[in-house]
Amino acid sequence: MFVRLNPGARILPPTVVTGDRWVAEDLRRKRRFTIQRPLAAVLVAAAVPQDPDELAKQLAELDPAVAAGDWQRRVTALLDRGLLVSSDPADDWREELTAAWTQANWREAAEYHLLAFDYPCIDYSEASAMGIDRSRMRDYQAIEPDANRYKLDYAANPGEELPAPTAEIATGTAYRHWNGETPAAPATAEALAAVLSLTFGVLQERTPVTESAPLLRRTSPSGGGRNPSEGYLFVRSVPGYRPGWYHVTLKPFSLRLVSTDVPASLTGLFPDFPADPAAVVLVTSVFERNMYRYREPRTYRTVHMDAGHLLGTARLVAESIGLRAIAGDAGDALALENQLGLDGMAEGYLGGLALYDGNAPAAIPATIAPTPATEPAIAQPLDTWPALVRIRPTTDEPGIEVADVVSGRTHRFNPAELAADLLAGAVPALPTTTADDVRRAQLLPGLQHWQHRGWHPSDQSYVASRRPATVIPEPATPTAAAPRPGPGIELPAPAHAAKHSIARLLVNRRTGRAYIRRPAPAEVLSGLLWHGLSEFRTGTSSRAAADWDPSVWEVCLCVHNVEGVERGAYRYDPQTHRLHLVQADDLRPRMATILQGMRSPSSAGWTLGLVADFERQQQVRPSESGLRSLYTQSGVIAQDLIVLGSAYDLSTLVTPAQQDSAYLELHGLHPRQYGPIYTLTMGLSRGLDGVYPDEAE
Ligand SMILES: Cc1cc2nc3c(=O)[nH]c(=O)nc-3n(C[C@H](O)[C@H](O)[C@H](O)COP(=O)(O)O)c2cc1C
Repeated sequence: MFVRLNPGARILPPTVVTGDRWVAEDLRRKRRFTIQRPLAAVLVAAAVPQDPDELAKQLAELDPAVAAGDWQRRVTALLDRGLLVSSDPADDWREELTAAWTQANWREAAEYHLLAFDYPCIDYSEASAMGIDRSRMRDYQAIEPDANRYKLDYAANPGEELPAPTAEIATGTAYRHWNGETPAAPATAEALAAVLSLTFGVLQERTPVTESAPLLRRTSPSGGGRNPSEGYLFVRSVPGYRPGWYHVTLKPFSLRLVSTDVPASLTGLFPDFPADPAAVVLVTSVFERNMYRYREPRTYRTVHMDAGHLLGTARLVAESIGLRAIAGDAGDALALENQLGLDGMAEGYLGGLALYDGNAPAAIPATIAPTPATEPAIAQPLDTWPALVRIRPTTDEPGIEVADVVSGRTHRFNPAELAADLLAGAVPALPTTTADDVRRAQLLPGLQHWQHRGWHPSDQSYVASRRPATVIPEPATPTAAAPRPGPGIELPAPAHAAKHSIARLLVNRRTGRAYIRRPAPAEVLSGLLWHGLSEFRTGTSSRAAADWDPSVWEVCLCVHNVEGVERGAYRYDPQTHRLHLVQADDLRPRMATILQGMRSPSSAGWTLGLVADFERQQQVRPSESGLRSLYTQSGVIAQDLIVLGSAYDLSTLVTPAQQDSAYLELHGLHPRQYGPIYTLTMGLSRGLDGVYPDEAE
């Protein structure tokens, strides 16, 4: 048997971020080991597959002070821990995925995806799960308070009060909105105030069971109620507002001026929006609010969904009062954070919504121009390893590389030579620029905190995704989607959405985890898919930036209880508005397991899944930000569906915490190409009457 370095292994040298120790990480099995330097050398030398005895012999030649038998024992120890593996060719989609994603400029995204895929979450089917969760929170609270809810930094700045969110401040109805009948209106101060109020305003403060500071409730759901998102507004030209940058301060509820520095052109800051918006709503995330509670990397996804929900709400409100609104997330995060005085590792820009007069001409899709490389990199001799550098196997041929996330450069080494360097305690020369060094130094405090909270390798993926894109997307033939089985079943004519105002639906929105045990009408399911996913049908969106392409989504549906529709797993074809049966069965127990033990499917009408076609998305966004963008987009799409659902008296539980492999298998999709991003379990509720079954029971 030949052995080789586990393709999912990463070797982290000692740095100021990870501490004075070598770490070996196994992305597949989601494990981290502290190792001695000689073991790191064994791993590096094993990048080229070889006989284990030969490997030990090679290392003994490099370091004759250690007996060959000791090297053999080290090889065996690494095999036992799975950091070295048999080099027999394995039919492993993960390896294929890493190689393909590397080609697509998604290398760091691949590492995060592999680690987060099927990440073990608390299983809520166990009676003890809630108790474990609470006791963990109490332990955290005993050490440091859980009190980060409001950002009040600008409360003393000049500003304008905002109206409290109520059903009366915007009158556009769901019916008119989803039938495209809303008359155009100008972007006035009043319209803007309604958008901000219904998006960011606090509906309620709720003291958690663990008695920490009250959590906020808003018109959008928020993972664990942590509300990491903050809102800002850039005003270019709105009568009654001084142009500049504002923060949406919650206490007192107001817009507070941050800066009056108005750039001559917005194209550099917001390359994804058509020129000259009247204003832009910006959503940032204060990561610590979620990190505090969820000290694992998968939660990095959810802050994007949170931001997406808010962007979705803002877009719905704006459209319902006649404005044109375009959502996107390709703004220049570093420049925007600079403009707002933010440290992007603590509070990062996640997305924006450009607002225009309702009569403004249709969007011209923006092409995002990549930034050319500037300063040449020079190989520097180093005494210590720079932060955010990792050693990992190459993906195209057996070999080893040192990857620098800050610069985006990778450097290949001869495995035996690098192993010799490691044994000698030397750091290889790595090309770097002054700009890289400055950037690395700026990132250090934030990176240390992300490591401390267990948010790795989301830290790498996040930093990499914020480097300017260097590749222009080529118009490409769409990749072949996995064929949908059978001729598909026709759905009845879509039901009309109710004539309630969107504002009313929003202020009454609640997460519903249990539903009225009655079959949902098929017309309602049809209406939700027809109206809520209309952009999936047309294939383009005039409501989002050009690089938010609806064709990257595969919509899965697990029907639990719908009148006249057989229970089972389906895939939805938006073009034909048909459901294609993958398997007929009562899948409620399986879906509850897939949703980490949440029992909602038992009384729900269906569980809808937004599943990403990664290959397609890589054509649209061939840069590290492409994966994160899917998370944000899923939140925006979900918010449309939640609000439309409530116009049909449905309530919704959203969760990104699904068991990924099992979910894909249920719907006949392969993880090499697809990944479930977000699920919405929906069922009949008493809706606007304000009493949900879970409250009544
Ligand atoms: C990204 C995200 C993930 C969520 N995950 C779960 C979940 O796994 N289980 C659950 O019961 N609720 C989940 N929720 C719902 C939140 O718990 C809920 O929105 C929050 O407690 C506030 O309550 P409200 O939606 O009724 O206002 C999630 C919400 C979001 C936005």
